[in-house]
Amino acid sequence: MKQNSWRSAYNKNQLGFKIGISILFLGFGFILIFSQSFSVIPDVSDNNIDTPVTEKNLKLIPSDFTDSPNKEINQIHPKVTNFLELNVFPGNCCEDDKTGKCDIFSGDWIPSPDGSPYTNNSCRWIGSDQNCLTNGRPDTGYLYWRWKPKACDLPRFDPKKFLEMMRDKSWGFVGDSITRNHLQSFICILSQVEDAVDISDDKNCNKNQKWHFPSSNLTVSVIWSPFLAKTDTNGVQTSEIQLHIDILDKTWTELFDTWDYVLFSSGKWFIKETIYYENNTILGCHGCQDKNHTDPGFNVAYRKVINKLFDFILNSNRQKTVIYRTSTPDHFENGMWSNGGRCDRSVPTKEGEFEMGLLNRILREVELPEFEKAEARASEKGKKLKLLDVMPLSLQRPDGHPGAYRHFYPFAKDKNAKVQYDCLHWCLPGPIDRWNDLLMKLVVDG
Ligand SMILES: *[C@@H]1O[C@H](CO)[C@@H](O)[C@H](O)[C@H]1NC(C)=O
Ligand SMILES: *[C@@H]1O[C@H](CO)[C@@H](O)[C@H](O)[C@H]1NC(C)=O
Ligand SMILES: *[C@@H]1O[C@H](CO)[C@@H](O)[C@H](O)[C@H]1NC(C)=O
Ligand SMILES: *[C@@H]1O[C@H](CO)[C@@H](O)[C@H](O)[C@H]1NC(C)=O
Repeated sequence: MKQNSWRSAYNKNQLGFKIGISILFLGFGFILIFSQSFSVIPDVSDNNIDTPVTEKNLKLIPSDFTDSPNKEINQIHPKVTNFLELNVFPGNCCEDDKTGKCDIFSGDWIPSPDGSPYTNNSCRWIGSDQNCLTNGRPDTGYLYWRWKPKACDLPRFDPKKFLEMMRDKSWGFVGDSITRNHLQSFICILSQVEDAVDISDDKNCNKNQKWHFPSSNLTVSVIWSPFLAKTDTNGVQTSEIQLHIDILDKTWTELFDTWDYVLFSSGKWFIKETIYYENNTILGCHGCQDKNHTDPGFNVAYRKVINKLFDFILNSNRQKTVIYRTSTPDHFENGMWSNGGRCDRSVPTKEGEFEMGLLNRILREVELPEFEKAEARASEKGKKLKLLDVMPLSLQRPDGHPGAYRHFYPFAKDKNAKVQYDCLHWCLPGPIDRWNDLLMKLVVDG
């Protein structure tokens, strides 16, 4: 299996990680889902991968280090170059000799005359913040690329075939605003065959929505649960979030048995200021201003929640396919979201040109090993658990974000207008549509 090849690649690299770890992270673009800024570097003397990433071992770094992701990697600290030798991409190897299976996550973007499967005119489910065409983004070259795995061709998501395959089936998408972004792409592509019918309980609330495709009786739901675990504010309040790291969010657990296919993802919300609870008692707080609580580390909390999630999935009875989507990169350059960072590129980059930000490295250091362990348990139990690793292909698409065009004609009145860029979410249509090519492949291959 291809997983074996990435497993060994991963294990090899984990060693390198242990030797060279110096977790730092900065410049993430979370204005859109976060309300607080973060520009921090932990104590680089730390050599342990499981070291909690806490406020205590973080130091503020000067902002001129935050210019670009590459500068960030190369100039902050000599030890950081260890990261460059570290391959946290499982898609290291193209093809397994024995099975001839293709690693669909390892590849490059190549020009494609086909363009996007839908436009702003043919899909009515695009969120206005991601509707780059309608908002006046002038270039369209970013629409003419397709993902080419090294060892094979990846067929495009075929909505007609998909709807046939999914007769009477039910899908759930659970996560944060990137999940919603992905869901909208998915619905838009399917809508080219048959327009979806909104059957949400509350049509005015875009947190939890549900669509139906009458001809195939397919139902698709999106559930807002950025932590996947129980919060007392559900993440919408600006004050500290209260998160129960040992209790999953019933918003989705109650629906879990109604789904045949479920896609989960999480991660970025864990760096928010959060009080963690375990056994209904306070375990500590990440990012709290007052020093009354200790900080267990957001990566520790994320790991606990993912473990709970996988336990829940593996102990459930109903047969279904569960997919975990990895966290996604942002592409702020020349600053962060909060101080003028932008994403003005119009073409993809080559593999290795954009280094993964450190937050993503930390999140991957949780996601990949935990998934690997869960996958081994799943195959023992005959359950279908798959990884949708969107990181490698997404990392090469700094041209795919709305940037200034999250606003409607941002420069119409003043071509030098100062606007907040979104270099985290993705234009619709845009490269995120290709996530569905990968998704289809995972599902078709059973
Ligand atoms: C779609 O975008 C084009 C510009 O790319 C614009 O002229 C058109 O009005 C948009 N359509 C909708 C429905 O917003
Ligand atoms: C549609 O699918 C659901 C399961 O998702 C099933 O319960 C229902 O009976 C189906 N409806 C029809 C008309 O077949
Ligand atoms: C919660 O309970 C579990 C199992 O009883 C225990 O291992 C863990 O240490 C407890 N955590 C806290 C913070 O009390
Ligand atoms: C922190 O502890 C101090 C002293 O025990 C107390 O006065 C204060 O209210 C506490 N702050 C919070 C937010 O619990």
